[in-house]
Amino acid sequence: MSASQELEKLATNYALEAVRLDKQGAKGMAITMYQKAIENLLKLVQLYPEYSLNKVYIQRAMAYQERIRILQNAGITPVAHDETETQPETEKTDSTETGKTTSAGKASYDELIVKEKPNVRWEEVVGLEAAKKAIKEAIVYPVQRPDLFPLGWPRGILLFGPPGCGKTLLAAAVATEIDALFLSVDAASVMSKWLGEAERNVAKLFRSARKAASNGKPAIVFVDELDSLMGRHSSEVGGEVRVRNQFLKEMDGILDKGKKLHVYVIGATNKPWDLDWPFIRRFQKRILVPLPDHHARLQMFKLYTSNLSLAPDVDLHELARLSEGFSGSDIRDTCQSAHLKVIGEFFESGQAKNKLAKPRPLTMSDFRQILEERKPSVSLNMLASYNRWFEAFKAL
Ligand SMILES: Nc1ncnc2c1ncn2[C@@H]1O[C@H](COP(=O)(O)OP(=O)(O)OP(=O)(O)O)[C@@H](O)[C@H]1O
Ligand SMILES: [Mg+2]
Repeated sequence: MSASQELEKLATNYALEAVRLDKQGAKGMAITMYQKAIENLLKLVQLYPEYSLNKVYIQRAMAYQERIRILQNAGITPVAHDETETQPETEKTDSTETGKTTSAGKASYDELIVKEKPNVRWEEVVGLEAAKKAIKEAIVYPVQRPDLFPLGWPRGILLFGPPGCGKTLLAAAVATEIDALFLSVDAASVMSKWLGEAERNVAKLFRSARKAASNGKPAIVFVDELDSLMGRHSSEVGGEVRVRNQFLKEMDGILDKGKKLHVYVIGATNKPWDLDWPFIRRFQKRILVPLPDHHARLQMFKLYTSNLSLAPDVDLHELARLSEGFSGSDIRDTCQSAHLKVIGEFFESGQAKNKLAKPRPLTMSDFRQILEERKPSVSLNMLASYNRWFEAFKAL
């Protein structure tokens, strides 16, 4: 297979997985996979600017980007989410007739559990040193040298903080780092799609984690959007209490220090205040994943423009300054949008037909234009709430 075919195949696989997860309501992992798909499509366009399919690739990348934006905004406004109408073109197949009911459909155990590792490396997670350190201490080191932890080690880690700052990304990076069984599940879809079977499926989830661990393979159970387990958004009133209790029971099972099993639970939420104390206390490590500071924003701009051709007037320090209050996701989006804008123009102008022509480099004004159109997606009010919660419940 040629390099371009290889990239295309990668992009397609990530996109298919993203769409599948998206359909199941596994928002966080869907976003991570869409990002990977975009990354590979853009790499493809970058490497072969004259390629005849590039226009299609760019359109696809833009559609995924749009989808990510919709998913991310859905996380901020606390409304019941119905995403069927806004899914990308490829996914409109069966949702038209049934309308809103499709998103409330039932799903089997295997459909909601993601076992695939998204292949995210630590270096792709910018900043968040405290969170990375805590995760390494809690999971990576005990897995490598359990003999050095005679008193046991924490099994539950809660990542909380504003949307788009790297919680899901961190979990994906841990999965890549250690050769563990990685079972990822989105609590919102558990509550809405497992319906009567949620309790049983939760038990099954932990059973397979324990089984792997007792066969010598560490297991990480990643529960995204953990707050959904509190059940406020579910219509199944009696059932949700049972699911919650099942989850707490399973957590107790793995917290039992007598067992030296390597089963870990990472929970992520951007609404920590929705969790009640029985939940909170089972996560012995509670880690704030904050908005990036100036330095982290600079690193992000470096990372996300590293493959792009930049005009000499582009000042990344200035961009970091202009993007105060932006999340990592906002910054990534800014860079990708600037890039897509320039290659979009390139195709529109017909220059792409000339096989030797290349898109022009990105200028500061391209970035400024995008930044002006974007507001930080996290409000000051929200930030204050995270800090308050952290002060009350922190456990590093
Ligand atoms: N610290 C970071 N370093 C690099 N990229 C980041 C970082 N934070 C966010 N991003 C980018 O933003 C995307 C979304 O981040 P992620 O899904 O991890 O956010 P989250 O904290 O889980 O948000 P939510 O609370 O909405 O689930 C990532 O896929 C990545 O591209
Ligand atoms: Mg997430």
